[in-house]
Formats: sequence, structure tokens, C-alpha cells
Amino acid sequence: MAFDIQKIRNDFPILKRQVNGYPLVYLDNAATSQKPQAVIDCIVDYYSHYNANIHRGVHTLSQEATDAYEEARKKIQKHFNIENAYEVIFTAGTTHGINLVASGFSEILRKADEVIVSALEHHSNIVPWQMLCEKTDAKLKVIPMNTDGTLDLSEYKKLLSEKTKLVFVNHISNALGTINPIEEIIEKAHAVGAAVLVDGAQSCSHIKPDLQELKVDFYVTSAHKMCGPTGVGMLYIKEEWGKKLPPYQGGGEMIKEVTFERTTYADLPHKFEAGTPNICGGIAFGAAIDYLNEVGYEEIQQHEDELLKYATKKLKEIELLTIYGDTPNKTSVISFNIEGIHPYDIGTIIDKLGIAVRTGHHCAQPIMDFYKIPGTVRASFAFYNTLEEVDALVNAVKKAKLMLT
Ligand code: ALA
Repeated sequence: MAFDIQKIRNDFPILKRQVNGYPLVYLDNAATSQKPQAVIDCIVDYYSHYNANIHRGVHTLSQEATDAYEEARKKIQKHFNIENAYEVIFTAGTTHGINLVASGFSEILRKADEVIVSALEHHSNIVPWQMLCEKTDAKLKVIPMNTDGTLDLSEYKKLLSEKTKLVFVNHISNALGTINPIEEIIEKAHAVGAAVLVDGAQSCSHIKPDLQELKVDFYVTSAHKMCGPTGVGMLYIKEEWGKKLPPYQGGGEMIKEVTFERTTYADLPHKFEAGTPNICGGIAFGAAIDYLNEVGYEEIQQHEDELLKYATKKLKEIELLTIYGDTPNKTSVISFNIEGIHPYDIGTIIDKLGIAVRTGHHCAQPIMDFYKIPGTVRASFAFYNTLEEVDALVNAVKKAKLMLT
């Protein structure tokens, strides 16, 4: 479909609302995206017409729900160019996917092993690995970052050795928007025999990763960042790892046979899908993927790039405003501060003008520590935002600055 911003905005009912007497300007897309009518309709349709538990019943509703859920798995497989549908594990979201893998590695890592994480991570890609290292006595090493918000790859190369068993890195930093060179990171890790997990929570609304081409071992993401509902996501697990890692949770659906003496586990993907899943969420995740592909990733990227460039230029014109992570290789996220003003104060004032941004450390405290700041104001743009909304942001920030200095 041709990129018609007005038509696209009409797909999102929430964009019509007013906040504090002003039209909503939603620039907190890195926290969660808004949902198009097609996804909302899909959710209503499921609960109105074929709500049932899956993989369990012979009755019609159960069959219909199972078919729709498995169809959504195939949509995810196709979208990410995954070789086998059974390598797609439905999760509750990115954090769940990471914890699932970390828990599996607690059975595999040994004392002298090392794992590498990047300085640009969200807490959800730091804390589970710290917990894993505490359990296994493995050592956690950190790829340092540069002032422009990129990773120091020469230091990364020095950290790698035959002791390295796992590398965790995000595809795009949630706090700064930096796009990490994951191709190179994966290649270098594989050269020493380490596996790689990529956190794609922030990337999949902007980029369509080809997981076979990346040759990544694990890739995790959340539907809600991609116009889908909260509480559902996917873990791509390469088949060999899927066989090697033990189940994360025990329960129904993940077994072959249960006796009081011994239980055998189901094959992929069910081995990692204990209990009744978020059935409606999974189906709506598929609808969200359909919607994004209909808009088109090339068009999304072009439009978001225009927003990013325009907003960067306009914000830089404000005196005493600093943008963090100002590298050319970034997506439509701008983290900034104005000297002498706390980010919360800016966020609170511009909310009164209808503008939604996130303020604080963005669950990435090590990045804030690196810049020696308590937090930032983060404006994160989606394909349904407009240049006029950038103007509204810039004017609101100027007003806030006047009021606070
Ligand atoms: N991880 C989300 C964010 O960056 C919640 O805002």
C-alpha cells in the first residue's frame, strides 16, 4: 500500500483522542506501540466467536482456535524467515524469552565459563544473566560503550575467548536508539564457539530481521512493540538449542507422558510452552504482523527516518539541550536533557500539552551512569507520527524550558 500517513493514522482509533484538552501526540512508542483497528477487531472476533482452549479439544471451537494460533506461529516464522515453525516459541514477551534461555543455561554453564553482555542493555537483558552467573559461578563481562552511544567493538573482540559461552546484545538500544552491528557481533561470537541471544524488543517495529541470514541462536521480541497486544512475544530458538536446553516450566502441554515415576517431554515448540498460553494474544500478534507488512517496512523506515532527522535538527536548535547517543546509525528514538532541568519536570509539563514521552532511566541504568545523569526525556517515534507532531513536541519542550528556568 502507498504510504498515506492520514490513512494510516485513521487505522489507530486512539490517535483521535484528546489529552488535557490537546490532541494526543504519542511519542512513547519504544515503551509500547498503539494498536490498529485490525488488531483490535481480531481480539474482539476471537472472544466473540471462537474462544476456546487449544491443542486439547476435539470440538469445533477448540479446533478453530488451535488452527488460528498455529497459523499465527507460521506468520511469525515467515516474517522472521525462520526455517521451521517449531523453532518459534510463544512467550509472554521479551523478558520471558530471555529468562527461559537463561534458566536453560543454568544447567549448561560451568565455573570457568564466561558470558558477555553489552553496556547498552535494558535491565531485562542484564539481570537474568547476572542471576545465571550467580547460580553457575560463570563470569559476566561487559562490552563497553562509546560516548556516541555505540558499542566499542575492539574491546568486544578482546573479551572473546574459548571461555565465552554466550553473548547477549540488543538489536536496538531502547534508551538511545542505537542500531547495534549484530551481524558482526554474532560472527565473532560464533568464531569462538559462543552462542548469541539478540534482544529484538526495540527492533521489530522498525526492521524485519532475517534470522536465517543472521545465523543467530536465540532472538526474542514482544508483540506489543509491534502494534500487537501486551503479554505475548516470541522466542526464536535454533533447533539444536531447543533440543539441548531443558524445559523452563513444567505443566500441561509440555509433556509426552507423565507417570509418578517419570515424565518425558514434548518436542519443540511445546516443550517450552507449558500451560494455557495467551491464545488471543498469539493470534493478534499474527494480525499485527500482517498489518505491519501491509504498511511495508521500507515505507516505515523511510518515514521514521524523516521524523528522526527533522526532530533531531529542531531539538538541537534549543539552547542547552543535549541529545545522548547521537550516532547516525540509529532508529527513531531521541533521548535528551536540558541543562539544569530534571527530565521528569519536562515530561510532566509537556504531558499537560498532550504529549506523551517517557522520562527516567528507561530500565537502562548503566547507560545513565555512563553519562552521569539520572535519566533523560525520551521521544520515540513510530510510522504513524507526523512532522507536525514533532513541531508540537519541540514547541512544548521550549515552553517547559521557559517555565523551568
Ligand atoms: N522497555 C520499554 C521501554 O523502553 C518499556 O520503555
